[in-house]
Amino acid sequence: MTIFESKINDTVKLVFATNNQYKLREVQELLPEGIEVLTLQDIGCHEEIEETASTLEGNAKIKTDHVKNGYGYDCFADDTGLEVSALNGAPGVYSARYAGENVTFDDNVNKMLSELRGEKNREARFRTVVSLFWKGKQYFFEGVCVGRIEEKKSGDQGFGYDPIFTPEGYQKTFAEMSSEEKGEISHRGKAIQKLVSFFEDKV
Ligand code: IMP
Repeated sequence: MTIFESKINDTVKLVFATNNQYKLREVQELLPEGIEVLTLQDIGCHEEIEETASTLEGNAKIKTDHVKNGYGYDCFADDTGLEVSALNGAPGVYSARYAGENVTFDDNVNKMLSELRGEKNREARFRTVVSLFWKGKQYFFEGVCVGRIEEKKSGDQGFGYDPIFTPEGYQKTFAEMSSEEKGEISHRGKAIQKLVSFFEDKV
């Protein structure tokens, strides 16, 4: 059964703890009708949630803890890092701040291109950890997408490092794919697929 045909009998209501509209769109496209998503705006959570952990798991959990403890909702959140082999796994959990504090996606992409200039080993992977807090219990789901860092940007879809990341087996970057196409093969898509399967077993 594919994710698009998933059967969840009772509706599950979850807050998705993100302010990233691209992530929200990608995830909403992947969830079956049985999972209803509330946004941080919907629950009146407008404050910035500081991501202070040194692991993806830790940061994803900070976001769900914030919603669970402050607002009392079942919720999920993702944290994602780009792990580049030639940089010994960097920037990883620090992917949002690779070029410094308060930088744009483009600043991070430009720094990556310049760090890898002349580098033959272009191998990289995206890794997502989804934290789920549901009915008093904590769960984690991981998704990985292996690929390569291109030498220049291509495409204008998506966000973050999408214009320079080509997934293995493809001839185009994530930024040259629709969000549906990206969601079927991406790190976040795979982690969300596991979350959906979890609910298929439970409700
Ligand atoms: P976050 O902490 O999960 O929001 O992710 C950290 C950084 O990784 C983001 O600021 C983006 O630059 C990058 N990132 C996360 N997910 C993706 C993705 O799906 N494609 C490209 N870049 C991403």
